[in-house]
Amino acid sequence: MKIALGCDHGGFELKEDLKNFLVELGYEVVDYGTHSPDMVDYPDIVFPLARDVADGKCERGIICCGTGVGVSIAANKVRGIRAANCHDTFSARASREHNNANILTLGERVIGKGLAQEIVQIWLKSEFIEGRHLRRINKISDYEKQ
Ligand code: RB5
Repeated sequence: MKIALGCDHGGFELKEDLKNFLVELGYEVVDYGTHSPDMVDYPDIVFPLARDVADGKCERGIICCGTGVGVSIAANKVRGIRAANCHDTFSARASREHNNANILTLGERVIGKGLAQEIVQIWLKSEFIEGRHLRRINKISDYEKQ
């Protein structure tokens, strides 16, 4: 699975840690930056990454900032993106099974690396269960097209 990984300065250390973690697990990672702890504006990182996920160039995306909130708001502006900011394993699994989330956002200032790694692993392994949830996802897609 090809994963788009990105961050702003607030999520730089977590992004670097997750990059090593994912590569060790055998995932293919495309790093959209940022590449240093210097200050950047997260929309500049998020939009190219989210477009590539929406276009299928990468199957999933993971984006880190200080809280995971700003990058989630930005990613959800891109048509076809369902970004979920999850800081617990229950929500991470549900965001895949019920919401078919294609981007996970995380806050480096909110959780530690160990929990972030566990959330990422669960999120990557969980699958959309469709059924009644597909009807709801389709309503969101229809709304996006208006
Ligand atoms: C950067 O200071 C911080 O605002 C950003 O990383 C993020 O938390 C925004 O939502």
